[in-house]
Amino acid sequence: MSAVTRSKKIGIFDSGLGGLYVARAVRQMLPEYDYVYLGDTLNVPYGGRSMNAIYKLSEAAIKYLFDVHDCDLVIIACNTASVTALNKLQREFLTQNYPDRRILGVIVPTLESATELGATQIGLIATEYTIRSKIYEEEIAKITPKAQIFGQPTPLLVPLIENQGAKYMDMVLGDYLEPLIEQGLDSLILGCTHYIEIKDIVRELTRHRVRVLSQDEITPPKLKDYLQRHPEMEERLIKNGTFEIFATDVNQSFLKNVQKLMGDNAKAEQASY
Ligand code: DGL
Repeated sequence: MSAVTRSKKIGIFDSGLGGLYVARAVRQMLPEYDYVYLGDTLNVPYGGRSMNAIYKLSEAAIKYLFDVHDCDLVIIACNTASVTALNKLQREFLTQNYPDRRILGVIVPTLESATELGATQIGLIATEYTIRSKIYEEEIAKITPKAQIFGQPTPLLVPLIENQGAKYMDMVLGDYLEPLIEQGLDSLILGCTHYIEIKDIVRELTRHRVRVLSQDEITPPKLKDYLQRHPEMEERLIKNGTFEIFATDVNQSFLKNVQKLMGDNAKAEQASY
């Protein structure tokens, strides 16, 4: 008989606020589970940091979700952290310390969704780090030889989104998207949680000629599918329908955005680790 009891939560981790869009969408599709969201607002943005720093920050965040919040399943919503840390976390950190628990990323599910929709000429906008890693290229090659990734780093977008830079968005985004669109794309992946906020602008600017793939639309059905395929995990998860939000720095801007996204009564608590 398994020693694992049924009282575990689902953790969702991001470098900041962007993953809350993913968490909100996951909860909308799967409202029965208990969720803990963690935004590492003290250290955002991750996109310009070294591999070592991103790994350390991600490991500490996952450990906190495991130890303090009793999460048995953690989704790394952050692309930059998925790119840098997921592999090592799964192979070393989990195996050595938490062999019963699971950590899922967003990159493979995003590419699976793209190919399920028939995408072959796939644009990708993401942080400098994510693009440079070439992980999307590596992973798509394992799924199909027919698809190609056209990556474009878009480093100005996170600061603009974080600092209410909406009035500059069309100009900056237009500049970033133009060379990509010339490649004759059929799809465009928004490879950063922050970009979910601007998905409608991207759809407008690309005049709906490419399929814009946004991770708040991709992650919920992929998680549902994962839980159906893994009843041993599903059965452990507690089902009270709660949703808690933690951040490493509960600043005014984060709180304002939390309430904009989750409603006026939403609270964010300080995470200490
Ligand atoms: N959340 C990160 C991602 O999805 C982007 C923001 C950052 O640089 O921390 O890649």
